[in-house]
Amino acid sequence: MSRYLALVPAAGSGSRFGAPSPKQYLQLDGKPLMWHTLATLAAVPAIERVALVISPGDEWFDSYRWDDIAKLEVHRVGGASRAESVQNGLAALAAADDDWVLVHDAARCCLSVAAVERLIATLGDDAVGGLLALPVADTVKRANAEQRVSATVPRERLWLAQTPQMFRAGRLAEALAKGPVDIITDEASAIEQLGLQPRLVEGEAQNFKVTWPRDLALAKALLATRRG
Ligand code: CTP
Ligand code: MG
Repeated sequence: MSRYLALVPAAGSGSRFGAPSPKQYLQLDGKPLMWHTLATLAAVPAIERVALVISPGDEWFDSYRWDDIAKLEVHRVGGASRAESVQNGLAALAAADDDWVLVHDAARCCLSVAAVERLIATLGDDAVGGLLALPVADTVKRANAEQRVSATVPRERLWLAQTPQMFRAGRLAEALAKGPVDIITDEASAIEQLGLQPRLVEGEAQNFKVTWPRDLALAKALLATRRG
């Protein structure tokens, strides 16, 4: 039987958001933003452990309560890039090579349990693994340096990658070790560099990544509707 482990990189500084604290610690419904992320992952019955990667210099984590999140373990091994944080987290996890690792951005706090379960069920014992993603709905434009349209890009078969991204621990570590970790923006692209083709599983619009200040109001509204 395969085991499922969640790995949550949360060692970023949130420079685009521009708040005094990293965005994963912004207050959302009385909790730090990433509390919601971790609680959702911990609520997925198939997931055995939820491993959080924070920065060794993190000054915020200890100010909040996390003991109500089952399965949580904390690794203070974040790196200079997201890929490096994931790589260090994988090493700290001490997973078996064929354990499934679901890497999920701390900043995607509106993920639903149902979407994670769809990812796990759809991939089954897939030979490669895959990720949640959304087909592009809008017409896509490529801009030139003056922010004028230089081309319309056919949207056929274009998808926007989300997380979780789910791969076997051994192969993911091998893929990330091939680097370069400073240009790998998601696990799938590292796996693709091995010549493999991750499967795309339909995600959900609500699973967006809080990136800019305007995203916070949307996350608040979504979490409020979920509480009913
Ligand atoms: N992340 C990380 N280690 C890094 C950089 C990012 O663990 N060195 C994490 C972030 O904390 C976040 C996820 O990777 O949960 C996705 O990254 P992103 O949304 O880009 O977050 P930041 O890098 O913090 O934001 P920005 O790029 O605006 O600075
Ligand atoms: Mg970033």
